[in-house]
Amino acid sequence: MADKEEPQPEHGFRFWPPHGIRIRTPRLELRLPDTALLDDLAAVSADGVHDPTEMPFSVPWTDGSPEERGRSTFQYQLGLIAEWRPERWAFGLAVMRGGKPVGLQELAAADFGVTREAETGSWLGLAHQNQGIGTEMRAAALHFAFERLGAHAVTSAAMTDNTRSLAVSRKLGYVPDGVKVIAVRGEARTLRRLRLDRERWEAHRTVPVEVAGWTQECRELFAA
Ligand SMILES: CC(C)(COP(=O)(O)OP(=O)(O)OC[C@H]1O[C@@H](n2cnc3c(N)ncnc32)[C@H](O)[C@@H]1OP(=O)(O)O)[C@@H](O)C(=O)NCCC(=O)NCCS
Repeated sequence: MADKEEPQPEHGFRFWPPHGIRIRTPRLELRLPDTALLDDLAAVSADGVHDPTEMPFSVPWTDGSPEERGRSTFQYQLGLIAEWRPERWAFGLAVMRGGKPVGLQELAAADFGVTREAETGSWLGLAHQNQGIGTEMRAAALHFAFERLGAHAVTSAAMTDNTRSLAVSRKLGYVPDGVKVIAVRGEARTLRRLRLDRERWEAHRTVPVEVAGWTQECRELFAA
């Protein structure tokens, strides 16, 4: 046994350094959830993410009972870490406001080391929508992607009727990048694709963002 103990990182996860990353905006802190926080985040999704007559997601994970929705959030987030590779990763961040989770902001990429492109996806609990949080958390993910990861472009996609998501993208400087028709619940739905390059991100940024806990080990895991 080693007689000198390895220093334990403050966040407690020696083998998963992204747990130490904190992205902060004036009102929010984004971080990878541990299982206790994930349980609370799952409860936010169980309480409802959108009107049940609508379906803003390509994968209709919000269909079903509150319990099913919460479980789906819990399992999906654990799966992201289980399947993480530098060539294909998805960083699912709990969005915290006043110390409590209010939603989820994801940033994902395939072959980021080559393409320098990542894509975002997000949701907020119903009680937290329409207060500018969606804009602030997307701005946080964009700052992280461009400033820390060295992204060249970040993309997003929203159903043609998702006015709020489209409004967030427009405010942050994204430009239209075509459409895509997909099958959701057996019906054809049209997704509007959006794209933001570094130049337009710089020209449209208004939210101050700070990143803490970024290390060389993180850089390797993200192929940044
Ligand atoms: C999409 C989502 C993350 C946006 O977050 P949010 O906090 O509600 O959005 P914000 O308050 O930051 O911004 C919404 C913008 O849409 C505008 N908006 C709201 N309702 C609108 C409407 N019916 N028509 C046009 N614009 C509208 C708001 O005015 C605001 O723009 P402004 O700041 O210029 O006034 C959130 O609404 C959500 O989780 N929705 C359900 C799940 C979802 O759709 N996820 C995204 C899938 S692509």
